[in-house]
Amino acid sequence: MTDKITPATTAAPAAPGAFVRTVSIDTFLAGLRAIRETEFTVGHVFDHLKRHPVDAPSLSRYLFFSRNHYTRNLIFKNHLFELVAVCWEVGQGSQIHDHHDQNCWMSMPVGRLRVQNYRVAERDERRAYARVEPTDHFEIHRLAPAAEVDPEQPVHKVSNLPEFKQRAVSLHIYSRPFSTCVVYSPVKNDYRVQPLTYHSEYGRLCEGVRL
Ligand SMILES: [Fe+2]
Repeated sequence: MTDKITPATTAAPAAPGAFVRTVSIDTFLAGLRAIRETEFTVGHVFDHLKRHPVDAPSLSRYLFFSRNHYTRNLIFKNHLFELVAVCWEVGQGSQIHDHHDQNCWMSMPVGRLRVQNYRVAERDERRAYARVEPTDHFEIHRLAPAAEVDPEQPVHKVSNLPEFKQRAVSLHIYSRPFSTCVVYSPVKNDYRVQPLTYHSEYGRLCEGVRL
């Protein structure tokens, strides 16, 4: 995954027509927690996601949608990783961003998302200048339900496109946990550090959050 033409984020398809055996979010999380810290790496965690698609109904207590923006809902966090459910109404998307050199994986229990990858063509830290260019893109959905970000080319944008015509829920694992991301503007050719917050934690709306 370090070749320049390799997608920054890769998806793992299931075989066509394959029966997808799902597990509850509790079982999924127990499996993640059983991975030793030294093995909590690109490839190893990806295997766990590919082998254990999550059963959508088991997530219901963690899901909060907003018409105004996608929502970030914390399911679990320790020193090694955080597990977040992101809820996307039709037409909602992230900004172009990366994750501060942390590893990131995605699993797709509900709906469909499009992942657009970018490469940083130019960057000048003295004036926070960055020019990004789109590279490849792909979709994640029930039959291609897992993806991981390539640390070599980590800039991406995630969208629930209007033509998908359905809500989406994605599970995100970040290791280690972090509270900011880097957002890139293809219009201004700049970038900035943006704080990240949760809309809910452990199944409860956070204080002051209005959906
Ligand atoms: Fe991301």
